[in-house]
Formats: sequence, structure tokens, C-alpha cells
Amino acid sequence: MKPTNTYILGIESSCDDTAAAVIHNGVILSNVVATQDIHKEYGGVVPELASRAHQQNIVPVVQLALHKANIDKKQLNAIAFTRGPGLMGSLLIGTSFSKSLAMGLDIPLIAVNHMQAHILAHFIKTEEQTAPSFPFLALTISGGHTQIVKVSNYFEMEVIGQTIDDAVGEAFDKSAKILGLPYPGGPLIDKYAQLGNPKAFRFPKPKVSPLDFSFSGLKTAVLYFVERNTAKNPDFISENLEDICASLQFTIVDYLMDKLKNAVKETGIKEIAIGGGVSANSGIRKALKNTEKTLGWTTHIPKFEFCTDNAAMISIVGELKFKEQLFAENDIAAMARMKF
Ligand code: KG4
Ligand code: ZN
Repeated sequence: MKPTNTYILGIESSCDDTAAAVIHNGVILSNVVATQDIHKEYGGVVPELASRAHQQNIVPVVQLALHKANIDKKQLNAIAFTRGPGLMGSLLIGTSFSKSLAMGLDIPLIAVNHMQAHILAHFIKTEEQTAPSFPFLALTISGGHTQIVKVSNYFEMEVIGQTIDDAVGEAFDKSAKILGLPYPGGPLIDKYAQLGNPKAFRFPKPKVSPLDFSFSGLKTAVLYFVERNTAKNPDFISENLEDICASLQFTIVDYLMDKLKNAVKETGIKEIAIGGGVSANSGIRKALKNTEKTLGWTTHIPKFEFCTDNAAMISIVGELKFKEQLFAENDIAAMARMKF
């Protein structure tokens, strides 16, 4: 990829993280994320509160990103922002802010698809991560999405499998809630799972078409499992938390790996990249790495800060689109639902 010698500001506000980043020739100069703790009190993201917090956070977050990158806003060559998919009220803050800033600075505006950005985060230049070669399969797993995407080129992507109900992160978080763990419970399930026996309990793997996912049944299964066992022993959860978490994580990871194997079989592509918050999970990381030896796959796991929602991934897409002069008009609107 030829350097563009541009400074591009990326802005992300699709859910509950307000984020801004500056990229220069594929290298991230700053990557600022303001996480909204307010949602913890409610056990999930409250859209109305998220947009209000974005409104408060966006100016200081952008200012900090510019400060950390050690550049002045006048040096920016373009503004890239998340157009969708996401919560409309949240997207509107980032979209309106980006449009105004681009207009004020008289520089181009670049619209970014959040899901594409999770995938293209692999092309950020760092010592820790290697860029996948085309074509590759991307498994995007987070609190809002679960997809397998065939990536033929930077902007040539096809969703070949996806969840028909909940996202995998929701399955982690909702199960954690049933176990009495605070939101978001995914990282806690992972923590306890590492101390437990993954074969202690069995949970069902929902049956849907080979490349699709379903997680709503798993959440119900966990609920019935907990109700059944706590009726017999009120201390069942505390006495078995590590084994429950290990068994649950084992089931989810195995299910994700089954689907990836189906996708590899169907496409013949063995170059695999993962993204999204759930790719921080130790079980999926281990299972994926193992396939390098056992199945001859080449795997790519991004740096943790580029896995969860962030603006660095928006800025790399900005740079790639800048090269192609793929700019947005100033009347562009945010989209809650958005295809590639
Ligand atoms: O990508 P992300 O930051 O935001 C969304 O777009 O959703 O992903 C957040 C999700 C949450 O559901 C969180 O519980 C989950 O990622 N997560 C994990 C782990 N770390 C984050 N799930 C399982 N194991 C983890 N270590
Ligand atoms: Zn995301």
C-alpha cells in the first residue's frame, strides 16, 4: 500500500463508546476511547443515555486525539466517521459533528461502515499484527454482531453467515447476568472459565444452517439450568461458578469454531481473521491459534485495542477510501441498519 502522507481523523459513536483516532500512513498516532460507565447500572446499553453521553464526550475526545497525535486540526486532510450500523441517536452525534468539522475545515468527509471497519482494522500497521492476504474469511464477534464475511478485497466483502437472533457477546453478557455477574459479563465469564472444568456441564449448541448462528436458545438453556439447580441447592452458582463459566465458554467457542470450519470447507479459504470485542476471549484465541498446526490455517488476531469498538479502525478505512477518493457528500445521513 503506497503512503498517502495524509492525517485522517476517525470518529466512532455507533454504540456506547465515544472514540477518536488519528492515522498517518497506516500508523495510528492516537486512539482515544471514552467508555460510558452509566450503562453498568442498567445491565445493558440505554440508547437515550448513550446519545447524551456522546454529546458530552465528543469534543473533549476529539481534542485529546489531536493533542496525543501532536497535530493541529488544520493539518487534517479528511474526517472519517461511522455512518452505521448502530444506534441512531448515537450515530447522529458522530455524523453531525464530523460533517460540521469537515465543513469548517473545508476538507473531505468519508463515511465508514462500522462492520467493514472491524475487518479492515487488520490493516493498521503495528509490530504486533500481520495483515491478512486476500481472499480471507473474517469472523466478527461482538456485543452487536456475529458474522462470517468473505473478504475478496478492501471493499469487496460478502456476508456468508450471521446470527439469526442474538450476537455472541449478548450470549456472554446475558448468561453472565443470569449468573449474577455485572455488565458486561463476557470478560468475567472468560476470567472464571480459565479456572474451571470445561466438561463439567453440557449446554446445547443451537441447530441452524451451516454458516449461520443462533444464541437466544443458549441464554434460555442457561436460565433453566440455573433455576433447576438453585432450586436444589441455593449456593449452586457460587459453588460451581468456575465450572459453569468454563463449560459455557467451551460450548460457545466450539460453536464458533464449528461454523468457521464449515465456512473454510465451503470456500476453500484458510486465511482467517477475527475482530470485535469477543475476539479478546482467551478460549477463541487459543482455539484459533491451534488450527495453524492442526488444520493448516493462517490466523490473524488484532491487537486488543483494535478489537473492541474504537476509532482507529474508522481511520484506517478513512485512509483506504482517501486513496480511492471515495468521499461522502455533505447531506449524507446516518443509517441504523447498513449493509456492506
Ligand atoms: O466490539 P465491542 O466492544 O462492542 C460491540 O460492538 O458490541 O464488544 C463488546 C462485547 C461485550 O459483549 C463483551 O462482553 C464482549 O465483547 N467481550 C468478551 C470478552 N471481552 C469482551 N466476551 C467474552 N470474553 C471476553 N474476554
Ligand atoms: Zn463493533
